[in-house]
Amino acid sequence: ACVFDAGGQILGTVGVLRDLTEQVATQRRLIQREKLASLGEMAAGMAHEIRNPLGGIKMATNLLSSGAVDDRRISQEMAQSIMSGIAEIEAIIADLLDYARETRLECQEYALGRVLAPVVEASTAEAARRGVRVEAVRLDDELVAAVDGPRLRQVFANVVKNAVEAAERTPDARVTVTLYRRHAAAVIEIVDNGVGIEPEHREKIFLPFYTTKPTGTGLGMAIVKKIMDLHGGEIDIDSVPGRGTTVRLVIPRSPVPAAVEVG
Ligand SMILES: Nc1ncnc2c1ncn2[C@@H]1O[C@H](COP(=O)(O)OP(=O)(O)O)[C@@H](O)[C@H]1O
Ligand SMILES: [Mg+2]
Repeated sequence: ACVFDAGGQILGTVGVLRDLTEQVATQRRLIQREKLASLGEMAAGMAHEIRNPLGGIKMATNLLSSGAVDDRRISQEMAQSIMSGIAEIEAIIADLLDYARETRLECQEYALGRVLAPVVEASTAEAARRGVRVEAVRLDDELVAAVDGPRLRQVFANVVKNAVEAAERTPDARVTVTLYRRHAAAVIEIVDNGVGIEPEHREKIFLPFYTTKPTGTGLGMAIVKKIMDLHGGEIDIDSVPGRGTTVRLVIPRSPVPAAVEVG
C-alpha cells in the first residue's frame, strides 16, 4: 500500500485509504454473512416449531376428510385438536412478532416491587403443580424506576417460567426472587436450583427459537433480551450445570437514553 516517489505522500494516502475501504468492505461482508447465518438459524427454528402442530393438524384433517371417522364424538375431538394446533401456531406467531416488531417503550415511574409481585403470585400455583416452590424475598418496596411496567412484567414472567421449568425435576425444587438496589441500578435476581446451563450454551439462550425443551418455542429469552436492551439494562447469568442458575436483571434508575438501538 505504500508508494515511494515524488508524489509519495499523496499516493501513500490514497493507498491507505483504499486499504481501509477494503477493510470496511470485508467487515461489511462478514457482518452480512453473520446476519444471513442467524436469519437461516432463525428460519430453521421457526419452521421446526410450526411443523409440529402442523403435522397434527394435517393428520386430523386427513382422517376427517377421508370419511373413515363416523363416530360424532371422535370427530369432534379431532376438530378440537385441530383448533388447539392452530392456537399453538398463533401463539408462536404472536411471540415472534413481539420479538421482531419495533418496540417503543412507554416508561413511567414504577415501584418495581409492585411490578414484580403479581408475576410471582401468578406463577406460584402453576409452579406448585409442578412441584416447585416460588418465593419472593425482600421485595424492596421503595425501589422506583422509570420503566415500561407491562413490558417488564413480561420479562419477569419469562425468566421465572424458565426457572420453574428448569427446577421441576429437582427434589425440593425452589425458585427465589429478590429485588434490591445496587448503586444507581435496581437488580431483580431469580435463583433456581434446576438443571443449569452448559457454558457453551450460555450465549445461545438469547437466540430466537433456541430451545432445549420439547414444547418450548425458544422465544422467551430473546424477548427478555430485547426489552432489557430497550431499558438500557443488563442480564447477568451465573449457572452451574446440575446445580442451578441465577439470572440477574439489572435496570438503570437514571433516565433511559432517548433512542436505544437494538439490532
Ligand atoms: N433458568 C434456566 N435454567 C436452565 N436453562 C435455562 C434457564 N433459562 C433458560 N434456559 C435455557 O435457555 C433456553 C431458551 O429459553 P427460552 O428462550 O425461554 O425458550 P424456551 O423456554 O421456550 O425453551 C431454554 O430452552 C433452556 O435451555
Ligand atoms: Mg422460556
